[in-house]
Amino acid sequence: MEIIRTVAALRERLKDQTNISFVPTMGNLHAGHIHLAEIAKQHGKCVVVSIFVNPLQFGPNEDFASYPRTLQEDCAKLEATGVDVVFAPFETEMYPDYDAENRSTGQTMIVTPPPIANELCGASRPGHFDGVATVVLKLFNLVKPQVAIFGKKDFQQLFIIRELVRQMNLDITIMGSDTVREENGLAMSSRNGYLSASERMEAPRLHKTLKQVVESAKKGQLDYPTIEAQTTQYLTQLGWIVDYVSIRSALTLMLAQPADKALVVLAAARLGRTRLIDNIEFSIE
Ligand code: PAJ
Repeated sequence: MEIIRTVAALRERLKDQTNISFVPTMGNLHAGHIHLAEIAKQHGKCVVVSIFVNPLQFGPNEDFASYPRTLQEDCAKLEATGVDVVFAPFETEMYPDYDAENRSTGQTMIVTPPPIANELCGASRPGHFDGVATVVLKLFNLVKPQVAIFGKKDFQQLFIIRELVRQMNLDITIMGSDTVREENGLAMSSRNGYLSASERMEAPRLHKTLKQVVESAKKGQLDYPTIEAQTTQYLTQLGWIVDYVSIRSALTLMLAQPADKALVVLAAARLGRTRLIDNIEFSIE
């Protein structure tokens, strides 16, 4: 496995590869990320994983500085998985026009995703998906994969990446992977490491609660705004700071209508300083 830190070295290493599968990450890898790399291995001859904590997708008061950076451990895990290339670029390689001193985009060209990116996670993280779309487009241009794999845990992100590929006419197949969870149902996340011992005990409730939402909808409770309000109230009473609980069309991510059959319930909520997200895709008859 090769660890590459510059654009020039990446281009040189990949220049004769015709069957590349790609997994973009921000590192601090857990079993969810490794699962994506395993899927990548089944779909390409050369597996590339990127590790880059992307400053553009963090708001000014978010955890960019404290985001866990564990490159050595990450590389050991990827080597054991059979990954061929790790691309862990220096910030100046990815964003030569970025104003790092002021943490401002400077003269960097930014991709603006469609307005759906301003809802759900985008509502409380303005500009987040601009940052995601920009870095993913750049990584796609550098790696030139045939296939790229993303987790359904970040359902809205996966949706926006699919739009990026469709609307920018990229010749890349996007695959979505199921969410890898702890035994207690908690979705694996690099941010779980921020949780205190007592928050860790409480955290699995988010997934359990979403399962109850799915049950209610499947039983015929189709007044989605009421379910969302009751769920928000329930979690709030237990100490969660709820960002959103939202039942949407799994096909368009628009607010679900009673006639919609393919649905997804998505939630984001904070326990202390840790923001957790989760979702469940489901269908009703
Ligand atoms: P990161 O949070 O490191 O996640 C990298 C990929 O792993 C994403 O596609 C995410 O959906 C997936 N993933 C995370 N937790 C998962 C889990 N428990 N099960 C399955 N997949 C999981 O998402 C990002 O980085 C960034 O926004 C990125 C796309 C790399 C752009 O900077």
